[in-house]
Amino acid sequence: MKIVMLGAPGAGKGTQAEKLAAKYGLPHISTGDIFRKNIKEGTELGKEAKSYMDAGKLVPDELTVRILLDRVSNEDCKNGYILDGFPRTIPQAEALDKELNRLGGKIDFAVDVDVPDENIINRMSGRRACPKCGATYHIQYVPPKKDGICDECGAELVIRDDDRPETVKNRLAVYHEQTQPLVEYYKKKEVYRAVDGTLDVEAVFDSIKDILE
Ligand code: AP5
Repeated sequence: MKIVMLGAPGAGKGTQAEKLAAKYGLPHISTGDIFRKNIKEGTELGKEAKSYMDAGKLVPDELTVRILLDRVSNEDCKNGYILDGFPRTIPQAEALDKELNRLGGKIDFAVDVDVPDENIINRMSGRRACPKCGATYHIQYVPPKKDGICDECGAELVIRDDDRPETVKNRLAVYHEQTQPLVEYYKKKEVYRAVDGTLDVEAVFDSIKDILE
């Protein structure tokens, strides 16, 4: 099963993708996580991506597509995967479909976690992330067991650089302009499904499971 998670920044794509990956035994592939890992490791890719990410802009398609196609060609993706944060533009979706066509596959579901902009700012300001293992929390809605400490690996949680209110506003504007057209793109392919992302984490997860099963 190949699933694309759509939705605004902070809609909860990553939270749901992680749960789906655990339930269905599929790899969770987040282009944002790949870029953040490279930034942390100080690679050339990380240096290039950081300037775009800190400004709330998209990393150029050419670079992003290359990285994603390379990742999904790995052995662990042969039974499918959950894409979180990719595609984010029509050219990215077309590049993915072209490659899938070549291999005789297709995207099975594009699941849109739908959350209005008003809720997004609140979600982002309360998000805390683990710099070591990538787990995500929310100080109010998904708190860690011990304040400021990752449940999974014990590292100290941090606020993501691009979660500052100014950057979040840019990310939302970029989302509406460049990513939202994917809703029509996947509707035409008859794989688009929307869920109400304002519900609590488990209720959103139940809605997605209903769709997939
Ligand atoms: P990326 O890391 O993909 O960020 P994003 O899409 O902006 O998504 P987020 O990770 O911010 O949010 P999310 O929807 O996963 O929400 P989460 O589950 O964390 O990308 C970052 C940057 O990298 C981009 O801006 C761009 O520069 C670059 N990039 C990445 N991919 C790219 C691409 N394909 N092309 C070009 N550039 C690319 O949840 C958010 C918060 O809400 C958390 O605190 C969580 O605990 C909480 N929460 C989640 N669900 C709920 C719920 N149901 N109720 C209450 N709280 C909830």
